[in-house]
Amino acid sequence: MMEQAGILGLGCYLPPRKLTNKDLEKMVDTSDEWIVTRTGIRERRVAPKEVAASDLGVEAARLAIKDANLKPEDIDLIITATVTGDMAFPSTSCIIQDKIGARNSAAFDINAACSGFVFAVTIAKQFVDSGLYKNVLVIGTEKMTSLVDWEDRSTCVLFGDGAGACVIGKTKDRHIVSYFLGSDGAGGNLLKLPAGGSRIPATEETVKNKMHFLKMEGNEVFKLAVKVMADAANKAITKAGFLCTEIDLLIPHQANMRILNAVAKKMGLPEEKIFFNIAKYGNMSSASTAVALAEASKEGRIKKGDKVCLVAFGAGLTYGAVVIKW
Ligand code: UT7
Repeated sequence: MMEQAGILGLGCYLPPRKLTNKDLEKMVDTSDEWIVTRTGIRERRVAPKEVAASDLGVEAARLAIKDANLKPEDIDLIITATVTGDMAFPSTSCIIQDKIGARNSAAFDINAACSGFVFAVTIAKQFVDSGLYKNVLVIGTEKMTSLVDWEDRSTCVLFGDGAGACVIGKTKDRHIVSYFLGSDGAGGNLLKLPAGGSRIPATEETVKNKMHFLKMEGNEVFKLAVKVMADAANKAITKAGFLCTEIDLLIPHQANMRILNAVAKKMGLPEEKIFFNIAKYGNMSSASTAVALAEASKEGRIKKGDKVCLVAFGAGLTYGAVVIKW
């Protein structure tokens, strides 16, 4: 088998503290029943106050590098997908680089929101295929609980913290066979964090008006998510020369159980071919697909030769899919 860009190692890290739906019942006007039936979420992880996205990312990165039988010095490039980076700059990738001692690497962040990990894996593949870099560390890390409004029941029940990582390099198996990326900036207003950037810098007013919290038009996002996730997966699968029904495991961004079921139905895939961890973690933005891929592999859900499709959708709007032949 020829060597091609593929997965050398995987890892993930979830902060230990769980916030259950019952806990949320004491914080906002909601119920375990509403959250479970409308979203499929039962609990989510919350990182401590002093822990930032880089700290979660470091744990996942160390595990992925170890799993790849490499050392931090062997990493040539670090790409971190995050919307909850430690600060606007320096990049979270640079902070992680320093903490893990990957002193021979270049490092930068990307922002494609919930699709970030899928975008970053695709970027990593280009660097490996071109021969510019040998070992690329890709991280999806988020502390989503740092930007949700804990008084807004329509969003605070949805999100959680976590990180996943993989090392991409030339391998004999676990090849990235195809990908598809797309964006629709016209839908940018549906999901955003309004203030704190150059458009609306932080002021007393922006804090008072809660403009530093995530805002989402859930219903609109829901409808689009089903359509574009199924489309993106179809396009990547077709590009790989496979049929949708040949996919052994679909690993989707974990935004809402009902979205995932609708995507599966559209693609003609039975439920057992879909990977779910939304009940345990909620929506971790770019970390969702990264954690799901690492967990699916660790739990033995993927066998050698399996066709796996990662698919995501998020703010931007952004969407994308990657097909991996295990
Ligand atoms: O990862 C990036 C992409 N994000 C997503 O994909 C999220 C997509 N959207 C969704 O998952 C869903 O739209 C939500 C889970 C956010 C909302 O579910 P929905 O079925 O679209 O509910 P809704 O917004 O239409 O609200 C239905 C009702 C409303 O009450 P009224 O107006 O019918 O009286 C809400 O006020 O449910 C109410 N509601 C809640 N009730 C109890 C909203 N949030 C809650 C809550 N607990 N937490």
